[in-house]
Amino acid sequence: MKKTLQKVLLPIYLLAFLAFPAHADEGMWTLYNLPKAVYETMQQEGFQLPYGALYEGQDAIKNAVVNFSGYCSGVVVSPDGLVFTNHHCGFESIRSHSTVQHDYMLNGFCAKDYSEELPNEDMFVSFMVSQQDITDRVLGTGFYLQGAERQEAIIDSLQNELTRQAKTKDSTLHVDIDAFYEGNKFYATTYQDFTDLRLVFAVPKSMGKFGGETDNWMWPRQTCDFSVFRIYANPRTNGPAPYSKDNVPYHPKHWAPVSMQGYKAGDFAMTIGYPGSTSRYLSSYGIRERRDATNEPRAQVRGVKQEVMLRHMRADEAVRIKYDSKFAQSANYWKNSIGMNKCIDSIGLVNQKREYEEHIKSWQDSTGYLKGELDFDKMKDLYAKRSEAMKTFTFFRETFLGTSEFNTRAFRLNYMELQGPAEKPKKQYVEFKDNSAEWDASLDKEVMATLFRNYRQHVSAKYLPKFYRTIDTKFGGNYAAYVDYLWSKSALMKSGRKLYVNRKSFQKDPGTMYGLDLLEVMDALRTELLEHADEIDRQERLLCDAKIHMEQDLPHYSDANFTMRLSYGQVGGFDLGGRPSGYYTTAESMVEKMKKADENVEYFAEPIMHQLLSASDFGPYQDKTTGKMQLCFLTNNDITGGNSGSPMFDGKGRLIGLAFDGNWDSLSSDINFDHRLARCIGVDIRYVLYMMDKWGHADRLLKEIGAQ
Ligand code: ARG
Repeated sequence: MKKTLQKVLLPIYLLAFLAFPAHADEGMWTLYNLPKAVYETMQQEGFQLPYGALYEGQDAIKNAVVNFSGYCSGVVVSPDGLVFTNHHCGFESIRSHSTVQHDYMLNGFCAKDYSEELPNEDMFVSFMVSQQDITDRVLGTGFYLQGAERQEAIIDSLQNELTRQAKTKDSTLHVDIDAFYEGNKFYATTYQDFTDLRLVFAVPKSMGKFGGETDNWMWPRQTCDFSVFRIYANPRTNGPAPYSKDNVPYHPKHWAPVSMQGYKAGDFAMTIGYPGSTSRYLSSYGIRERRDATNEPRAQVRGVKQEVMLRHMRADEAVRIKYDSKFAQSANYWKNSIGMNKCIDSIGLVNQKREYEEHIKSWQDSTGYLKGELDFDKMKDLYAKRSEAMKTFTFFRETFLGTSEFNTRAFRLNYMELQGPAEKPKKQYVEFKDNSAEWDASLDKEVMATLFRNYRQHVSAKYLPKFYRTIDTKFGGNYAAYVDYLWSKSALMKSGRKLYVNRKSFQKDPGTMYGLDLLEVMDALRTELLEHADEIDRQERLLCDAKIHMEQDLPHYSDANFTMRLSYGQVGGFDLGGRPSGYYTTAESMVEKMKKADENVEYFAEPIMHQLLSASDFGPYQDKTTGKMQLCFLTNNDITGGNSGSPMFDGKGRLIGLAFDGNWDSLSSDINFDHRLARCIGVDIRYVLYMMDKWGHADRLLKEIGAQ
């Protein structure tokens, strides 16, 4: 029976796979070379602006979209440089300005005037100025014949050269070169970065992260996931400038008109933003590696770590403030990894891809294309060879990298610039700044000890750093005792103290030795992984090349790589386990959830929020067709991590929402976009404005935005 069923089903799977590139709305398209065929489909689906409105000229839509601090997206919405992004993108800024006395995370924040807007170290927004294909130039260097290190050097030197040229026109520009289509193409992108970015408005966390980890990656959703920043510029040039109190609000070339008109099912919708990474061309062997050697160990270690973190955070409010962002960041891809693996298995993605590879193979046989070069047996063999090292590397990374302040310092030690006179080695030192506001010793120590044990339980003995022997011989296998010893005996945690690196005391410091033990294992793993990396990358590149050639009458987009992309489609829901998901949520549904706060604190919200969302009339913010106050909504726009904060535009290029999440049912869409299930969850811009108005009384900002 089973066999027969499989036989019946397989061709259907295969069909689905073969058909998917043709499906209209999938894709993350670069703007400067958007295929005309794609634009024509957009028009048929309701896009009303000319082709040139996307990328060309001062008023191009792209000029309103920013890369937000290198990990999110955002949109400029006023002539004075206001930027909308998600609450979870502004989260670390909001957290870093919070104290137990002024807790902007818990209470929200609304700057009354420019002078109250809060500057942020290490944040920026980046505008894409232009993009061009430089593949011929890169390949002209004999690029593919070189090893990885040499390739990197070629890209670096070309990047420097192009940046130098750009700077002769405008000193505030720089150029990045990125690989597209698995390294088959290279584009150079010119950017302008603004580093004086100030926090202007944030709702309380109860709203900005409503539903917390429970609702994360889920639909239906009511999260009010937005925050507001402002770009500041040099007062003379209106160009980028490092923070200064004399800087003034930036006057952008173009800003997005904010719409009060809403949307309905089937309406055209488009996101533009900075998706970070997808693997749509990945081989079946690569998918298996992702599932077993990345997602699975990542979820395992994070699950163990988060349990410890949560216990400490719940016990102490000050600790909670310190670890809010770290926890959210960890939990986000912990849940994503679990969900993605579920989808990979339930959809049967590995087998589906293997079937597809068979199809490519027979096409190769008939055409001879890349015959003898693209070799699936070789690919299989190479992935198998590196599987243990890859899995161990994930365990290693998740256990030791950035998981405690001690680990961070032990690693950094080896990469820090030395201070003091170069001619007097004994006087050269490193020094850690006092950042005690960022971590808590008792939480960090318990995480360390717990993860030490966990690591040993999951990797083979040859990958244990040397200090495990010390733990066994000197501490009787007691991990916590060894951690206590490290923290008390090492000078690493003594902030503000000069650590003289060329003295015995430093070289014998238990923290220094611990760091070296870690490096040793990391280097060994790296070497093992590098052994096959070049050839695996080459095979994946050839696979992508073959696919594009085989389907050359179709437009193909490149995998995401944190460059600006456009994705288009429609507003609309999906089939949620046999019933329709609906495509928007209402204020009533949020009030219902808030009533469940007793069972789940993540649904807690202040009484004022209950009141605001229980209004009988939401005035202009309420949808004219449904008569409802709509909070979040769904489109089939193709997005991924990095797209958070991306503007969602209607057919006229007006801002109707901000993308903030994907849905649980399609978490494998980074590998295979399933058009039946993959949805983008956005916060309705009218909900954003309603909160700014009724909760924040932010009249000055609303006037500045001038929504219509
Ligand atoms: N899953 C969303 C993203 O990756 C939101 C993450 C923040 N929210 C959270 N509950 N951790 O963009």
